[in-house]
Amino acid sequence: MLILGIESSCDETGVALVEAMGSGLPVLRADALHSQIEMHQAYGGVVPELASRDHIRRVLPLTEDVLARSGTRLDQLDVIAYTRGPGLAGALLVGAGVACALGAALGKPVLGVHHLEGHLLSPFLGGDPPQFPFVALLVSGGHTQLMRVDGVGRYQLLGETIDDAAGEAFDKSAKLMGLGYPGGPALARLAEQGDPKAFKLPRPLMHSGDLDFSFAGLKTAVLTQAKKLGAELESRKADLAASTQAAIVEVLVHKSLGALDRSGLQRLVVAGGVGANKALRAALEAGCARRNWRVHYPELHLCTDNGAMIAMAAAMRLAAGVQTGDRSYAFDVKPRWPLAELSRLT
Ligand code: KG4
Ligand code: ZN
Repeated sequence: MLILGIESSCDETGVALVEAMGSGLPVLRADALHSQIEMHQAYGGVVPELASRDHIRRVLPLTEDVLARSGTRLDQLDVIAYTRGPGLAGALLVGAGVACALGAALGKPVLGVHHLEGHLLSPFLGGDPPQFPFVALLVSGGHTQLMRVDGVGRYQLLGETIDDAAGEAFDKSAKLMGLGYPGGPALARLAEQGDPKAFKLPRPLMHSGDLDFSFAGLKTAVLTQAKKLGAELESRKADLAASTQAAIVEVLVHKSLGALDRSGLQRLVVAGGVGANKALRAALEAGCARRNWRVHYPELHLCTDNGAMIAMAAAMRLAAGVQTGDRSYAFDVKPRWPLAELSRLT
């Protein structure tokens, strides 16, 4: 069965083709991605209307590219999957509209996928897929959540951020250090040359006794520190970046290990854009290795938004029988959509 996946929830247009065969895991046949980062850079963040218009320009050429590279004709597709939410409403509508139009024209079912479920299941695309059950740390620009995952569609929220997401903490701290957009990768690069112990920054909710996060206070502390440094900031920027990254990583690692401890599970899956962070990976590896726990990641290029994870999540939902394709083609999107609301029967 051939499943086309379309991702357009934010600032990346992603299209991919996944093939599901028998009882094995679905296999990625081709994927294509266009990042809008350069376009939004001038504004210091994502401009929703520009994002929607660019998705419109990119989605069909990317689809043609994926079909050509995998040697597939349009009429060979069995299911068209798209990101139904959460995300920017206008951006989501582009992917949903194209998927439903393709489905209607081909007479094939369409399937709306939860963006975070895509991230969550993205490690199944790699050479080292996890086994259920596991704890998932979802760390992206919009979300920071710990979930217990017992199977496809069986997600239990263990804890989440009460304000900013981890990616936002990276991005906002980077912005006030003048590092541009998106700040996460830039801050991480600069941090490699700095001393993570140079500045004492707060570890919010670290010892709260639950699995929730809070990052808004950290950003304020970084701002205060930057102001205190004044003209000295330029020469101490790498130290401030390293200290900021260390604070975010320490909290994420502490809570992730806490989630494994409490749930009695021994596998951790890390997904979402911040999962690409090397310091986070190293600290999680070290923490889990000490306890004989395993950490699974998506391949590095599949950490940030992409179409492959959407096609994969659709394939796994179909294979698990938790969802069937829809032929009404009455598309709707869910800009706000808690993952825990994904019932087994949707
Ligand atoms: O999952 P994603 O591509 O989009 C959302 O669904 O939000 O995540 C994007 C986020 C941004 O905040 C970006 O700064 C962050 O992931 N990010 C990183 C790194 N690469 C991406 N943060 C820290 N270190 C990185 N290497
Ligand atoms: Zn994402």
